[in-house]
Amino acid sequence: PGLDDLAKEAGLLYFGTAIDNISLNNTKYLSIAHNTSDFGQITPSNGQKWMYIEPARNVFNYSMGDAIIKPAKKNGQMRRCHTFLWHNQLPDWLTKTNYTKTELIKILENHIKNEATHYKNDCYAWDVVNEAFNDDGTYRKDLWLDTIGPEYIPLAFKFARKYVGRETKLYYNDYGIERVNNKSLAVQAMVQKFLNEDIPIDGVGFQAHFTVGRAPTYDDLRNSMKLFTTKPLELEVALTELDVRIQLPGTEEKLKAQADVYGASVKACMDEEECVGVTVWDFWDPVSWVPDTFPGYGDACLWDKEYKRKPAYFKIAEVLSA
Ligand code: G3I
Repeated sequence: PGLDDLAKEAGLLYFGTAIDNISLNNTKYLSIAHNTSDFGQITPSNGQKWMYIEPARNVFNYSMGDAIIKPAKKNGQMRRCHTFLWHNQLPDWLTKTNYTKTELIKILENHIKNEATHYKNDCYAWDVVNEAFNDDGTYRKDLWLDTIGPEYIPLAFKFARKYVGRETKLYYNDYGIERVNNKSLAVQAMVQKFLNEDIPIDGVGFQAHFTVGRAPTYDDLRNSMKLFTTKPLELEVALTELDVRIQLPGTEEKLKAQADVYGASVKACMDEEECVGVTVWDFWDPVSWVPDTFPGYGDACLWDKEYKRKPAYFKIAEVLSA
């Protein structure tokens, strides 16, 4: 059995991976990505982001998103859709013009309306808003906050609920919330406010981009998940972008430590009743986002460059089978 087979036996909805458009002409890569024994769920790591979907105002191009969503659907893999709104990968027409608040809200609704309608019923969940907080728990300063103010977040969720399929779960997704800290507490306070004000939200995504030696422990993860899964919020959670980078060069010892971090993370989700699944942020080292962003770090995935499964893969299998 593969990781998704084992995850399902362990009570999770899925074990999945993000894949990127640049990998779609690699048949060896695709045979792994589409092996439903290992991956029961797919997330496009770029193809559904604003700059690709709405490259000019009110001009929509779904080709990159479709190239990942359609084959996954055909293949019986669940889809997590990513993302309607974040500060990054926005088109120039949006960042280089000063829109008024009223205009920008219209632009936001129009974007969500079109993309949500195109992918209606295609997505198990949508990451509606991604990375809206700083590590200290304040709102991230970006276009949305500057022009609309913090209410851009509840507005995005309202628009999403209006246009996505009825069954689609709406998630807030962020990194650095995998411990109880200022950031996770700020997200918790936001969700509490949503509930008080009848703003729709179903889940919180823990991105889980970890580093060997500095990663949250099993207990850290359990405690931060509980911020959202217990009363009164009672939301679902998921690990949405799990990867574990090491300082290069990789050694046997570092790969073993990496395996332990993967194992503890997956176990935290498996043991948390309301944690629905785990998605790794790509599975193949050569295409991981890590080395570009953190020079000197890498080898963060479950398959190495020779397409060999790494100790982390077997550790996850062991944890899910226990
Ligand atoms: O589209 C261009 C292409 O035309 C060009 O040939 C190529 C040359 O390098 O670059 C392509 O754009 C790249 C894009 O990915 C698509 O591959 C960008 O340079 C690159 O910066 C971009 O990186 C993505 C990153 O988000 C952007 O911040 C990563 O692939 C993607 O994995 C990463 O994903 C984010 C999540 O959305 C949110 N959480 C963090 C996570 C990791 O940063």
